Amino acid sequence: MLRLEQISKLFNEATPDEKVALDKINLSLEKGDFVTIIGSNGAGKSTLMNMISGVLTPDVGKIYIDQKDVTKLPEFKRSKLIGRVFQDPMAGTAPSMTIEENLAMAYSRNKTRGLRKGVDKNRKEFFIESLKTLHLNLEKRLNAKVGLLSGGERQALSLLMSTFTKPSILLLDEHTAALDPSRAKLITSLTKELVEKDQLTTIMVTHNMQQALDLGNRLIMMDNGQIILEVKEEEKKKLTIEQLLKEFQKLRGGSMISDRTLLA
Ligand SMILES: Nc1ncnc2c1ncn2[C@@H]1O[C@H](COP(=O)(O)OP(=O)(O)O)[C@@H](O)[C@H]1O
Ligand SMILES: [Mg+2]
Repeated sequence: MLRLEQISKLFNEATPDEKVALDKINLSLEKGDFVTIIGSNGAGKSTLMNMISGVLTPDVGKIYIDQKDVTKLPEFKRSKLIGRVFQDPMAGTAPSMTIEENLAMAYSRNKTRGLRKGVDKNRKEFFIESLKTLHLNLEKRLNAKVGLLSGGERQALSLLMSTFTKPSILLLDEHTAALDPSRAKLITSLTKELVEKDQLTTIMVTHNMQQALDLGNRLIMMDNGQIILEVKEEEKKKLTIEQLLKEFQKLRGGSMISDRTLLA
């Protein structure tokens, strides 16, 4: 479903600010894989997401989605394949448009993929049914301007808009980090529900270790542009926060205190 081969990215080459943001990253996702990514600030997590979505082009390496080489494919041509939710709840929706208009926009952008026949005719019904899955009663507020919604409601809507057209890859970049704990919890459980419903192939970056352990079937730890730890399936189920912190400390050669605050 997704394959990254030897992806490298250097920022500010040959200047004092030169930074290897990604260093020969190899990663393969099968259909339905749900990978959580943790790692300290500056590890390269968002850069990796930007590579997959086509916001950035790798200096070296290849990216395949659905067996197709998309390395040189610009972002707008990849957008049908990719759903993305950012940290900022304001980023994914248009505040001056209504809920229905926002959904219509996301729908027409991505509708070529995987949607059941006849949706065009019954689009409104499809929107209402989709909104119901959020359990926020937004289906009763189709004509409300999105700017009037709370951060949590907007993030739920963003999540719906990026998943209801069944993208090949769903990218979530700390999408619960800006929310208060109860809203974050709600968005986390919605994420689980929406991803499981359509078996979406998903990559979720998070600073919340518990969330990284609870969601998905694979976990990756990044540091300094590299994947420094990969845990799958049964092994992931048994993993604890303490073990993760220990592993991180080991790989980092002991710089625990600051990284504990960064990662926790
Ligand atoms: N557009 C850019 N120009 C220059 N440096 C960048 C750019 N984007 C990211 N970086 C640098 O690359 C490194 C990785 O950044 P990022 O992928 O955002 O990390 P993370 O998301 O893991 O916190 C950081 O050192 C960051 O400062
Ligand atoms: Mg980031």
